Amino acid sequence: SLRRGISATPSAHLHHRGYSSESAPERKVAVLGAAGGIGQPLALLMKLNPLVSKLALYDIAGTPGVAADVSHVNTRSEVAGYVGEEQLGQALEGCDIVIIPAGVPRKPGMTRDDLFNINAGIVKTLCTAIAKYCPHALVNMISNPVNSTVPIAAEVFKKAGTYNEKKLFGVTTLDVVRAKTFYAGKAKVPVGGVDVPVVGGHAGITILPLFSQATPKANNLSDDDIIALTKRTQDGGTEVVEAKAGKGSATLSMAYAGAVFADACLKGLNGVQDVVECSFVQSSITELPFFASKVRLGKNGVEEVLGLGHLSDYEKQGLESLKPELKSSIEKGIKFANQS
Ligand code: NAI
Repeated sequence: SLRRGISATPSAHLHHRGYSSESAPERKVAVLGAAGGIGQPLALLMKLNPLVSKLALYDIAGTPGVAADVSHVNTRSEVAGYVGEEQLGQALEGCDIVIIPAGVPRKPGMTRDDLFNINAGIVKTLCTAIAKYCPHALVNMISNPVNSTVPIAAEVFKKAGTYNEKKLFGVTTLDVVRAKTFYAGKAKVPVGGVDVPVVGGHAGITILPLFSQATPKANNLSDDDIIALTKRTQDGGTEVVEAKAGKGSATLSMAYAGAVFADACLKGLNGVQDVVECSFVQSSITELPFFASKVRLGKNGVEEVLGLGHLSDYEKQGLESLKPELKSSIEKGIKFANQS
């Protein structure tokens, strides 16, 4: 059998992160694309999360090996590998959270939108299965272009009659992770205490970090510093793509960011109060139907989409210039889902 489950000894991790693995509720998490560059380290990080009781690793190839490997880590969750479309249903059944890093990554010279033709179809297939096998799961969409794949997912779910706007998330956490790292470096403050909201979307200029709201406040940053930090955050993915020189895009930092976001979703589901992360969700805080902003997470997914707060003039300008591109990426996703 391809299933490789293993039960961890509960006594070994009773006091992890203030939770007892016995009191934390059962939660099944699936990673779709689990044998990939993001999928493998993300599978490992989810295996380390004591809030997970079942971890399903799905891909079109390679998951039996990844699952066997990860399953030997002595933490709470039981790991199972699923390979090929005929096992997708089993992977999804009973899931609380489905994380999707399936699809092709960028190579130098490519934009995220260049991935559209391949990844749109993959996302459509996977979301069709989610609607069938775990319609109530929270979906964490990592596959690019996120600005289009999230609207595609929404349309697929609407057609299936399972759409719940509180349960669909585009993962933009890596933009936040980068903004925090770059800000801490420039402002010379300890990175652990830094918070920076990032709003808009997840591609180029649609990524809008709000450094005017960054904490702790830094009084040593000039307007030019803020412009440079903004550009570096927007181009952070491309920085990695170029450094990897044809071998793909961010995988390790993305796995970290994906694990942070999934952990926030799990905490929200478990009733932890005041869990807030930025995410690309259905939104009415601007005229666009989907928009990334701070979101409060709860037992049903999105508890509240938080507003943008006060913006600097530079950020207001950035907001206006990102809208046309984000709007057309959203429309492209909706059109794809409805024509094919
Ligand atoms: P990769 O090529 O290393 O891995 C992708 C995996 O998806 C492969 O194992 C492949 O077999 C699998 N896959 C392909 N078709 C599938 C299907 N129909 N069902 C299930 N699995 C399937 O790529 P990598 O580097 O892991 O990137 C994955 C995606 O994540 C890309 O679209 C990339 O652009 C995106 N990404 C998103 C980021 C974000 O911030 N949201 C950051 C970095 C990457």
